[in-house]
Amino acid sequence: MKIKYASPCIEQDDINAVAAVMQSGWLTQGPKTQEYEEAFAERVGAKYAVACSSGTAALHLACMAVGVHADDHVVIPPITFVATRNAVNICGTSPQYADVDVDTLLVNPVAVRGFCVRVFIPVDYAGQPCSYDDLYPCAFHMVADACHSLGATYKGKPVGSLANITCFSTHAIKSIATGEGGMCATDDGDYADYMREMRQHNRGQDSPGYNYRLTEMQAALGISQLKKLDRFLERRQEIADRYRRAFANVKGISCLHQHSNRTSANHLFVIVCDNRDRMAAALKEKDIETRVHYPCLSPDCPVACRMAQKILSIPIHCMLSNSDVDFVIEAIKEVSDEKMQ
Ligand SMILES: Cc1ncc(COP(=O)(O)O)c(C=O)c1O
Repeated sequence: MKIKYASPCIEQDDINAVAAVMQSGWLTQGPKTQEYEEAFAERVGAKYAVACSSGTAALHLACMAVGVHADDHVVIPPITFVATRNAVNICGTSPQYADVDVDTLLVNPVAVRGFCVRVFIPVDYAGQPCSYDDLYPCAFHMVADACHSLGATYKGKPVGSLANITCFSTHAIKSIATGEGGMCATDDGDYADYMREMRQHNRGQDSPGYNYRLTEMQAALGISQLKKLDRFLERRQEIADRYRRAFANVKGISCLHQHSNRTSANHLFVIVCDNRDRMAAALKEKDIETRVHYPCLSPDCPVACRMAQKILSIPIHCMLSNSDVDFVIEAIKEVSDEKMQ
């Protein structure tokens, strides 16, 4: 594939940082992990950060911390990766779904109010923070799925400081990459202590814990990547701006709305197409990779079901040059022009 839809950005200093840890002889969770947690907590404006092996593990730890149990009332949006749902399922219950806003695909606060909710897990879809202030009163506990939004802000505050627990992913194609990796950010010391125990077998307690530890190589990579987060975010924003300008008047496609009171991490760039499958096939022919994020998880959410047929994620990542981005733009314009003839 000539143009990938996503890619990590690994540079020589990242490689050096990992190599140094490998030479140190301490490979599993240790001092580098602690250093990484401290740097991460500071970056996202939280008192504590608990590193773990994936975003999915982070969601599971957070769900356990707020006590998600069998027959519990948990609400999530229907446009998200299956990991949001799976974390709830693993705790023994099935989530209910609150529909999304048609312009942003972020969960609609009015839809959430229709439920009896104990735990709500909003998703910062594509990197744009959800409407945290409107959502906070809707549930006793808010666990944010911020796997797309490391580095984003809402009303000037960093994502990570806005929910009871915020879960991040540092999977290879996220804002920063540690290969696999996750983080739970919280201001609550009891939650942080509990999640630290549960990620490491919950030794000495009755209920079983897990091995959700990060390695020191991943932590070293995380520290190195975190230093570059602002540069990565800036580049993603430039690409997103270039797409938005280019598609402003293109018939048959539109971009998701970006709220002016928040900044996005631009993890995905999603276009809404009149004929999505035709667009995806035409771009594939031009060696441009695309994805669908995501099929709708619930048949009971009409907006999400309708939009899930139209959305297409086009390439956005820090390894793209401006000429790559222009190539994608021209290809998309060409396909939409053809359709008009
Ligand atoms: C919205 C969302 N939640 C959770 C996850 C799970 O993260 P991980 O792949 O690190 O387990 C992802 C991963 O892509 C995601 O996109």
